[in-house]
Amino acid sequence: MKAVTWHGKRDVRVEEVPDPTIQEPTDAVVRVTTTNICGSDLHLYEPLGSFMGSGDVLGHEAMGVVEAVGSQTGDLRVGDRVSIPFQISCGHCWMCDRGLYTQCETTQVRDQGTGAALFGFSKLYGEVPGGQAEYLRVPQAQFTHIKLPEGPADDRFAYLSDILPTAWQGVEYAAVPDGGTLVVLGLGPVGDFACRIGAHKGYRVIGVDAVPERLERLRARGVEVIDLTEHEDDLGDAIRAMTDGRGPDSVVDAVGMEAHASPATTGVQKAAGLLPSALAAPLMKTAGVDRLKALHTAIDVVRRGGTVSVSGVYSGAADPMPLVTMFDKQVQLRMGQCNVKRWVDDIMPLLTDADPLGVDTFATHRVPLDQAPEMYRTFAEKADGCVKVQLKP
Ligand SMILES: NC(=O)c1ccc[n+]([C@@H]2O[C@H](COP(=O)([O-])OP(=O)(O)OC[C@H]3O[C@@H](n4cnc5c(N)ncnc54)[C@H](O)[C@@H]3O)[C@@H](O)[C@H]2O)c1
Ligand SMILES: [Zn+2]
Ligand SMILES: [Zn+2]
Repeated sequence: MKAVTWHGKRDVRVEEVPDPTIQEPTDAVVRVTTTNICGSDLHLYEPLGSFMGSGDVLGHEAMGVVEAVGSQTGDLRVGDRVSIPFQISCGHCWMCDRGLYTQCETTQVRDQGTGAALFGFSKLYGEVPGGQAEYLRVPQAQFTHIKLPEGPADDRFAYLSDILPTAWQGVEYAAVPDGGTLVVLGLGPVGDFACRIGAHKGYRVIGVDAVPERLERLRARGVEVIDLTEHEDDLGDAIRAMTDGRGPDSVVDAVGMEAHASPATTGVQKAAGLLPSALAAPLMKTAGVDRLKALHTAIDVVRRGGTVSVSGVYSGAADPMPLVTMFDKQVQLRMGQCNVKRWVDDIMPLLTDADPLGVDTFATHRVPLDQAPEMYRTFAEKADGCVKVQLKP
Protein backbone atom coordinates (compact mmCIF):
# COMPACT_ATOMS: atom_id res chain seq x y z
CA MET A 1 0.00 0.00 0.00
CA LYS A 2 0.96 3.65 -0.23
CA ALA A 3 1.83 5.49 2.99
CA VAL A 4 3.36 8.78 4.17
CA THR A 5 6.73 8.01 5.73
CA TRP A 6 9.22 10.03 7.79
CA HIS A 7 12.81 10.21 6.57
CA GLY A 8 14.39 13.16 8.34
CA LYS A 9 13.69 16.72 9.35
CA ARG A 10 11.32 18.26 6.83
CA ASP A 11 11.59 15.12 4.71
CA VAL A 12 8.41 13.08 4.39
CA ARG A 13 7.69 10.85 1.39
CA VAL A 14 4.92 8.74 -0.07
CA GLU A 15 6.18 5.19 -0.47
CA GLU A 16 5.07 1.60 -0.93
CA VAL A 17 5.09 -0.27 2.39
CA PRO A 18 3.71 -3.73 3.30
CA ASP A 19 -0.07 -3.94 3.74
CA PRO A 20 -1.03 -4.17 7.42
CA THR A 21 -2.48 -7.48 8.60
CA ILE A 22 -4.30 -8.81 11.66
CA GLN A 23 -1.59 -9.75 14.18
CA GLU A 24 -3.58 -10.01 17.42
CA PRO A 25 -7.15 -11.17 18.02
CA THR A 26 -7.96 -7.59 19.13
CA ASP A 27 -6.73 -6.04 15.85
CA ALA A 28 -8.75 -4.62 13.00
CA VAL A 29 -7.61 -3.26 9.63
CA VAL A 30 -9.31 -0.11 8.33
CA ARG A 31 -9.33 1.12 4.72
CA VAL A 32 -8.64 4.82 5.18
CA THR A 33 -10.93 7.24 3.32
CA THR A 34 -9.80 10.51 4.94
CA THR A 35 -6.71 11.23 7.06
CA ASN A 36 -5.59 14.70 8.16
CA ILE A 37 -2.28 16.42 8.81
CA CYS A 38 -2.13 17.75 12.39
CA GLY A 39 -0.11 20.42 14.21
CA SER A 40 1.28 17.50 16.24
CA ASP A 41 2.76 16.02 13.04
CA LEU A 42 4.72 19.25 12.71
CA HIS A 43 6.55 18.50 15.99
CA LEU A 44 7.82 15.33 14.29
CA TYR A 45 8.54 17.23 11.07
CA GLU A 46 10.88 19.49 13.02
CA PRO A 47 11.98 19.33 16.69
CA LEU A 48 11.04 15.79 17.77
CA GLY A 49 12.39 14.23 14.60
CA SER A 50 15.12 12.55 16.60
CA PHE A 51 12.56 10.17 18.12
CA MET A 52 11.43 8.99 14.67
CA GLY A 53 12.80 6.05 12.73
CA SER A 54 13.48 6.36 9.02
CA GLY A 55 10.48 4.95 7.16
CA ASP A 56 8.02 5.26 10.08
CA VAL A 57 4.45 5.75 8.81
CA LEU A 58 3.01 9.08 10.00
CA GLY A 59 -0.50 10.16 10.88
CA HIS A 60 -3.04 9.81 13.67
CA GLU A 61 -6.28 11.35 12.32
CA ALA A 62 -7.79 8.57 10.22
CA MET A 63 -11.31 7.52 9.37
CA GLY A 64 -12.55 4.86 6.99
CA VAL A 65 -14.20 1.49 6.59
CA VAL A 66 -13.36 -1.70 8.49
CA GLU A 67 -11.73 -4.15 6.11
CA ALA A 68 -10.85 -7.03 8.47
CA VAL A 69 -11.32 -7.89 12.15
CA GLY A 70 -9.64 -10.28 14.59
CA SER A 71 -11.62 -12.74 16.73
CA GLN A 72 -11.84 -10.43 19.78
CA THR A 73 -12.96 -7.08 18.43
CA GLY A 74 -16.38 -7.01 20.08
CA ASP A 75 -19.21 -5.66 17.97
CA LEU A 76 -16.95 -4.18 15.29
CA ARG A 77 -17.87 -5.59 11.86
CA VAL A 78 -16.30 -5.60 8.42
CA GLY A 79 -17.92 -2.75 6.49
CA ASP A 80 -18.48 -0.52 9.56
CA ARG A 81 -17.69 3.15 9.00
CA VAL A 82 -15.39 4.36 11.79
CA SER A 83 -13.24 7.18 13.07
CA ILE A 84 -10.06 6.00 14.81
CA PRO A 85 -9.03 7.97 17.95
CA PHE A 86 -5.36 8.97 17.89
CA GLN A 87 -4.67 7.06 21.09
CA ILE A 88 -4.82 3.29 21.41
CA SER A 89 -6.81 2.28 24.47
CA CYS A 90 -8.33 -0.98 25.71
CA GLY A 91 -11.53 0.36 27.30
CA HIS A 92 -11.34 -1.96 30.34
CA CYS A 93 -8.27 -1.09 32.47
CA TRP A 94 -8.21 1.07 35.62
CA MET A 95 -7.43 4.26 33.64
CA CYS A 96 -9.93 3.57 30.85
CA ASP A 97 -12.62 2.94 33.50
CA ARG A 98 -12.00 6.55 34.59
CA GLY A 99 -12.16 7.99 31.06
CA LEU A 100 -8.40 8.63 31.04
CA TYR A 101 -7.86 6.89 27.72
CA THR A 102 -4.53 8.60 27.04
CA GLN A 103 -3.21 6.83 30.14
CA CYS A 104 -4.46 3.33 29.20
CA GLU A 105 -2.52 0.79 31.29
CA THR A 106 -2.77 -1.88 28.61
CA THR A 107 -0.98 0.20 25.97
CA GLN A 108 1.21 2.53 28.12
CA VAL A 109 4.70 2.77 26.61
CA ARG A 110 6.49 1.87 29.83
CA ASP A 111 10.03 1.69 28.44
CA GLN A 112 9.70 5.39 27.49
CA GLY A 113 7.77 6.39 30.61
CA THR A 114 4.88 7.72 28.52
CA GLY A 115 1.12 7.17 28.45
CA ALA A 116 -1.04 5.24 26.00
CA ALA A 117 0.46 4.30 22.64
CA LEU A 118 -0.40 6.72 19.83
CA PHE A 119 -0.63 6.12 16.10
CA GLY A 120 2.23 7.50 14.01
CA PHE A 121 3.95 9.20 16.88
CA SER A 122 7.58 8.16 17.23
CA LYS A 123 9.36 5.83 19.66
CA LEU A 124 8.12 7.98 22.54
CA TYR A 125 4.63 6.59 21.97
CA GLY A 126 5.28 3.05 20.82
CA GLU A 127 6.29 3.58 17.18
CA VAL A 128 2.90 2.32 15.97
CA PRO A 129 2.47 2.74 12.17
CA GLY A 130 0.18 5.71 11.51
CA GLY A 131 -2.92 6.49 9.53
CA GLN A 132 -1.64 8.60 6.64
CA ALA A 133 -1.85 5.51 4.48
CA GLU A 134 -4.27 3.47 2.42
CA TYR A 135 -4.78 1.01 5.29
CA LEU A 136 -4.33 1.19 9.06
CA ARG A 137 -3.86 -1.64 11.54
CA VAL A 138 -5.84 -0.74 14.68
CA PRO A 139 -4.71 -2.50 17.88
CA GLN A 140 -7.25 -2.79 20.74
CA ALA A 141 -9.87 -2.32 18.05
CA GLN A 142 -12.67 -3.53 20.34
CA PHE A 143 -12.47 -0.05 21.92
CA THR A 144 -10.21 2.06 19.67
CA HIS A 145 -12.93 3.14 17.26
CA ILE A 146 -15.93 5.44 17.02
CA LYS A 147 -18.79 4.03 14.94
CA LEU A 148 -20.18 6.53 12.45
CA PRO A 149 -23.51 6.68 10.69
CA GLU A 150 -23.64 6.12 6.93
CA GLY A 151 -24.67 9.07 4.78
CA PRO A 152 -22.92 12.37 5.50
CA ALA A 153 -19.63 13.01 3.67
CA ASP A 154 -16.34 12.43 5.51
CA ASP A 155 -15.99 16.13 6.38
CA ARG A 156 -18.70 15.74 8.99
CA PHE A 157 -16.66 13.25 11.06
CA ALA A 158 -13.08 13.91 9.90
CA TYR A 159 -12.06 15.70 13.11
CA LEU A 160 -13.47 13.26 15.68
CA SER A 161 -10.19 11.33 15.79
CA ASP A 162 -8.37 14.26 17.37
CA ILE A 163 -8.80 18.01 17.00
CA LEU A 164 -12.51 18.36 17.74
CA PRO A 165 -12.38 16.36 21.01
CA THR A 166 -9.01 18.01 21.78
CA ALA A 167 -10.55 21.45 21.47
CA TRP A 168 -13.57 20.27 23.47
CA GLN A 169 -11.36 18.96 26.30
CA GLY A 170 -9.33 22.19 26.17
CA VAL A 171 -12.48 24.24 26.72
CA GLU A 172 -13.81 21.84 29.40
CA TYR A 173 -10.50 21.94 31.28
CA ALA A 174 -10.54 25.75 31.02
CA ALA A 175 -13.50 25.70 33.44
CA VAL A 176 -15.03 28.91 32.10
CA PRO A 177 -17.79 30.15 34.45
CA ASP A 178 -21.25 30.75 32.96
CA GLY A 179 -21.12 33.89 30.84
CA GLY A 180 -17.36 34.10 31.41
CA THR A 181 -14.53 35.09 29.10
CA LEU A 182 -12.18 32.68 27.34
CA VAL A 183 -8.97 33.67 25.58
CA VAL A 184 -7.61 31.17 23.05
CA LEU A 185 -3.93 31.50 22.16
CA GLY A 186 -3.19 30.07 18.72
CA LEU A 187 -5.80 29.76 15.96
CA GLY A 188 -4.53 26.68 14.19
CA PRO A 189 -7.06 23.85 13.81
CA VAL A 190 -7.21 23.17 17.57
CA GLY A 191 -7.54 26.81 18.67
CA ASP A 192 -9.99 27.52 15.86
CA PHE A 193 -12.30 24.75 17.07
CA ALA A 194 -11.79 25.83 20.71
CA CYS A 195 -13.08 29.31 19.76
CA ARG A 196 -16.09 27.83 17.94
CA ILE A 197 -16.91 25.58 20.89
CA GLY A 198 -16.50 28.41 23.41
CA ALA A 199 -18.79 30.66 21.37
CA HIS A 200 -21.31 27.81 21.00
CA LYS A 201 -21.34 27.48 24.80
CA GLY A 202 -22.14 31.16 25.14
CA TYR A 203 -18.79 32.44 26.44
CA ARG A 204 -17.14 35.63 25.33
CA VAL A 205 -14.22 34.37 23.22
CA ILE A 206 -11.07 36.28 22.25
CA GLY A 207 -8.70 34.52 19.83
CA VAL A 208 -5.02 35.44 19.36
CA ASP A 209 -2.70 34.59 16.47
CA ALA A 210 -0.31 36.25 14.04
CA VAL A 211 -1.55 34.66 10.80
CA PRO A 212 -4.02 36.96 8.97
CA GLU A 213 -6.13 34.21 7.33
CA ARG A 214 -6.52 32.40 10.64
CA LEU A 215 -7.68 35.58 12.39
CA GLU A 216 -10.08 36.29 9.54
CA ARG A 217 -11.74 32.85 9.66
CA LEU A 218 -12.82 33.48 13.25
CA ARG A 219 -13.64 37.16 12.81
CA ALA A 220 -16.04 36.03 10.08
CA ARG A 221 -17.79 33.83 12.66
CA GLY A 222 -18.20 36.72 15.09
CA VAL A 223 -15.29 35.87 17.41
CA GLU A 224 -13.19 38.78 18.73
CA VAL A 225 -9.61 38.41 17.57
CA ILE A 226 -6.28 40.03 18.41
CA ASP A 227 -3.42 40.21 15.94
CA LEU A 228 -0.27 39.25 17.79
CA THR A 229 1.85 41.31 15.42
CA GLU A 230 0.21 44.46 16.81
CA HIS A 231 0.90 43.53 20.44
CA GLU A 232 4.40 42.19 20.52
CA ASP A 233 5.13 43.37 24.06
CA ASP A 234 1.76 44.32 25.49
CA LEU A 235 -0.64 41.45 24.78
CA GLY A 236 -1.43 41.01 28.49
CA ASP A 237 -2.23 44.72 28.87
CA ALA A 238 -4.29 44.73 25.69
CA ILE A 239 -6.41 41.83 26.88
CA ARG A 240 -6.75 43.24 30.41
CA ALA A 241 -7.97 46.48 28.85
CA MET A 242 -10.74 44.46 27.16
CA THR A 243 -11.68 42.58 30.36
CA ASP A 244 -12.26 45.18 33.11
CA GLY A 245 -8.55 45.38 33.82
CA ARG A 246 -8.65 41.90 35.33
CA GLY A 247 -7.95 39.44 32.52
CA PRO A 248 -10.13 36.56 31.27
CA ASP A 249 -11.48 33.81 33.52
CA SER A 250 -9.76 31.18 31.40
CA VAL A 251 -7.08 30.76 28.76
CA VAL A 252 -6.58 27.86 26.36
CA ASP A 253 -3.00 27.50 25.08
CA ALA A 254 -3.51 25.94 21.64
CA VAL A 255 0.02 26.77 20.50
CA GLY A 256 2.45 24.35 22.13
CA MET A 257 6.18 24.38 22.00
CA GLU A 258 6.77 26.04 18.64
CA ALA A 259 5.50 29.48 19.55
CA HIS A 260 6.48 32.57 17.62
CA ALA A 261 8.81 34.38 19.99
CA SER A 262 7.88 37.67 18.38
CA PRO A 263 5.88 38.75 15.35
CA ALA A 264 9.12 39.11 13.43
CA THR A 265 9.40 35.37 13.76
CA THR A 266 6.66 34.77 11.25
CA GLY A 267 8.88 36.38 8.66
CA VAL A 268 11.86 34.43 9.90
CA GLN A 269 9.94 31.16 9.72
CA LYS A 270 8.75 31.93 6.22
CA ALA A 271 12.30 32.78 5.21
CA ALA A 272 13.63 29.66 6.94
CA GLY A 273 11.11 27.62 5.02
CA LEU A 274 12.77 28.67 1.79
CA LEU A 275 16.22 27.50 2.89
CA PRO A 276 17.60 23.97 2.58
CA SER A 277 16.66 22.16 5.80
CA ALA A 278 20.24 21.90 7.09
CA LEU A 279 20.40 25.68 7.18
CA ALA A 280 16.81 26.30 8.17
CA ALA A 281 16.85 24.21 11.34
CA PRO A 282 19.53 26.21 13.19
CA LEU A 283 17.96 29.47 12.01
CA MET A 284 14.58 28.38 13.37
CA LYS A 285 16.24 27.49 16.67
CA THR A 286 18.17 30.68 17.23
CA ALA A 287 15.92 33.28 15.66
CA GLY A 288 12.50 31.77 15.59
CA VAL A 289 11.07 29.78 18.41
CA ASP A 290 10.65 30.38 22.11
CA ARG A 291 9.44 27.09 23.48
CA LEU A 292 7.48 28.41 26.43
CA LYS A 293 6.31 31.74 24.99
CA ALA A 294 2.64 30.82 24.68
CA LEU A 295 2.44 29.19 28.10
CA HIS A 296 4.09 32.19 29.78
CA THR A 297 1.66 34.45 27.91
CA ALA A 298 -1.27 32.37 29.14
CA ILE A 299 -0.11 32.70 32.74
CA ASP A 300 0.34 36.45 32.33
CA VAL A 301 -3.01 36.99 30.60
CA VAL A 302 -5.33 34.92 32.83
CA ARG A 303 -7.01 36.75 35.69
CA ARG A 304 -5.98 36.02 39.28
CA GLY A 305 -7.68 32.81 40.39
CA GLY A 306 -8.38 31.86 36.78
CA THR A 307 -7.66 28.66 34.87
CA VAL A 308 -5.09 27.90 32.18
CA SER A 309 -5.84 24.90 29.99
CA VAL A 310 -2.97 23.60 27.89
CA SER A 311 -3.88 21.77 24.68
CA GLY A 312 -0.65 22.56 22.84
CA VAL A 313 2.00 19.89 23.22
CA TYR A 314 5.11 20.55 25.29
CA SER A 315 8.00 18.19 25.72
CA GLY A 316 11.48 18.53 27.16
CA ALA A 317 12.27 18.57 30.85
CA ALA A 318 14.63 21.47 31.29
CA ASP A 319 12.40 24.45 30.57
CA PRO A 320 11.75 26.55 33.67
CA MET A 321 8.24 27.75 34.51
CA PRO A 322 7.18 31.05 36.12
CA LEU A 323 6.18 29.27 39.31
CA VAL A 324 6.32 32.42 41.41
CA THR A 325 3.66 34.09 39.27
CA MET A 326 1.55 30.93 39.03
CA PHE A 327 1.53 30.63 42.81
CA ASP A 328 0.98 34.32 43.46
CA LYS A 329 -1.89 34.56 40.97
CA GLN A 330 -3.42 31.33 42.31
CA VAL A 331 -3.65 29.99 38.77
CA GLN A 332 -5.19 26.59 38.13
CA LEU A 333 -3.51 24.61 35.39
CA ARG A 334 -4.86 21.61 33.46
CA MET A 335 -3.31 19.88 30.50
CA GLY A 336 -2.70 16.69 28.61
CA GLN A 337 -3.42 14.79 25.44
CA CYS A 338 -7.12 14.55 24.75
CA ASN A 339 -9.06 11.51 26.02
CA VAL A 340 -10.91 11.33 22.70
CA LYS A 341 -13.80 8.97 23.45
CA ARG A 342 -14.56 10.79 26.72
CA TRP A 343 -16.14 13.64 24.68
CA VAL A 344 -17.72 11.91 21.69
CA ASP A 345 -21.24 11.76 23.17
CA ASP A 346 -21.08 15.52 23.82
CA ILE A 347 -19.88 16.33 20.30
CA MET A 348 -21.96 13.97 18.12
CA PRO A 349 -25.20 15.95 18.58
CA LEU A 350 -23.44 18.97 17.05
CA LEU A 351 -22.46 17.08 13.88
CA THR A 352 -25.90 17.54 12.40
CA ASP A 353 -27.07 19.07 9.12
CA ALA A 354 -27.27 22.45 10.87
CA ASP A 355 -23.49 22.11 11.42
CA PRO A 356 -23.17 24.67 14.27
CA LEU A 357 -19.38 24.23 14.44
CA GLY A 358 -18.83 24.57 10.69
CA VAL A 359 -17.09 21.20 10.21
CA ASP A 360 -18.25 20.85 6.59
CA THR A 361 -16.21 23.88 5.53
CA PHE A 362 -13.37 23.57 8.06
CA ALA A 363 -10.73 22.01 5.78
CA THR A 364 -8.83 24.42 3.54
CA HIS A 365 -7.09 21.71 1.49
CA ARG A 366 -8.28 18.28 0.30
CA VAL A 367 -5.65 16.47 -1.76
CA PRO A 368 -4.63 12.95 -2.82
CA LEU A 369 -2.25 11.15 -0.45
CA ASP A 370 0.54 11.58 -3.02
CA GLN A 371 0.61 15.32 -2.34
CA ALA A 372 1.40 14.85 1.38
CA PRO A 373 5.03 16.06 1.15
CA GLU A 374 4.11 19.45 -0.35
CA MET A 375 1.13 19.77 2.00
CA TYR A 376 3.36 19.20 5.06
CA ARG A 377 5.47 22.09 3.80
CA THR A 378 2.48 24.33 3.10
CA PHE A 379 0.93 23.65 6.54
CA ALA A 380 4.24 24.08 8.39
CA GLU A 381 4.83 27.42 6.68
CA LYS A 382 1.16 28.46 7.11
CA ALA A 383 1.24 29.32 3.41
CA ASP A 384 -1.65 29.47 0.94
CA GLY A 385 -4.22 30.12 3.70
CA CYS A 386 -3.65 26.58 4.94
CA VAL A 387 -5.42 25.68 8.18
CA LYS A 388 -6.42 22.03 7.84
CA VAL A 389 -5.36 19.46 5.26
CA GLN A 390 -7.30 16.31 4.45
CA LEU A 391 -5.44 13.60 2.56
CA LYS A 392 -7.51 11.23 0.44
CA PRO A 393 -5.77 7.84 0.00
N1 LIG B 1 -3.55 17.78 23.55
C1 LIG B 1 -3.80 17.07 22.46
O1 LIG B 1 -4.35 15.97 22.54
C2 LIG B 1 -3.46 17.64 21.13
C3 LIG B 1 -4.09 17.17 19.99
C4 LIG B 1 -3.83 17.78 18.76
C5 LIG B 1 -2.93 18.82 18.69
N2 LIG B 1 -2.30 19.23 19.83
C6 LIG B 1 -1.34 20.34 19.82
O2 LIG B 1 -2.02 21.56 19.70
C7 LIG B 1 -1.12 22.54 19.16
C8 LIG B 1 -1.78 23.27 17.99
O3 LIG B 1 -2.00 22.38 16.93
P1 LIG B 1 -2.73 22.82 15.61
O4 LIG B 1 -3.11 21.58 14.88
O5 LIG B 1 -3.81 23.79 15.92
O6 LIG B 1 -1.55 23.45 14.74
P2 LIG B 1 -0.77 24.78 14.41
O7 LIG B 1 0.65 24.50 14.76
O8 LIG B 1 -1.09 25.12 13.01
O9 LIG B 1 -1.35 25.94 15.34
C9 LIG B 1 -0.57 26.72 16.19
C10 LIG B 1 -0.97 28.21 16.00
O10 LIG B 1 -0.37 28.99 17.04
C11 LIG B 1 0.02 30.24 16.49
N3 LIG B 1 1.04 30.83 17.39
C12 LIG B 1 2.38 30.62 17.42
N4 LIG B 1 2.95 31.31 18.41
C13 LIG B 1 1.96 31.99 19.04
C14 LIG B 1 1.93 32.86 20.17
N5 LIG B 1 3.05 33.16 20.83
N6 LIG B 1 0.73 33.35 20.55
C15 LIG B 1 -0.42 33.03 19.88
N7 LIG B 1 -0.45 32.19 18.81
C16 LIG B 1 0.73 31.68 18.39
C17 LIG B 1 0.53 29.87 15.12
O11 LIG B 1 0.54 30.98 14.24
C18 LIG B 1 -0.49 28.80 14.68
O12 LIG B 1 -1.59 29.38 13.99
C19 LIG B 1 0.13 21.75 18.76
O13 LIG B 1 1.10 21.88 19.79
C20 LIG B 1 -0.36 20.34 18.69
O14 LIG B 1 0.66 19.40 18.91
C21 LIG B 1 -2.56 18.67 21.04
ZN1 LIG C 1 -3.73 15.39 15.57
ZN1 LIG D 1 -7.04 0.82 28.98
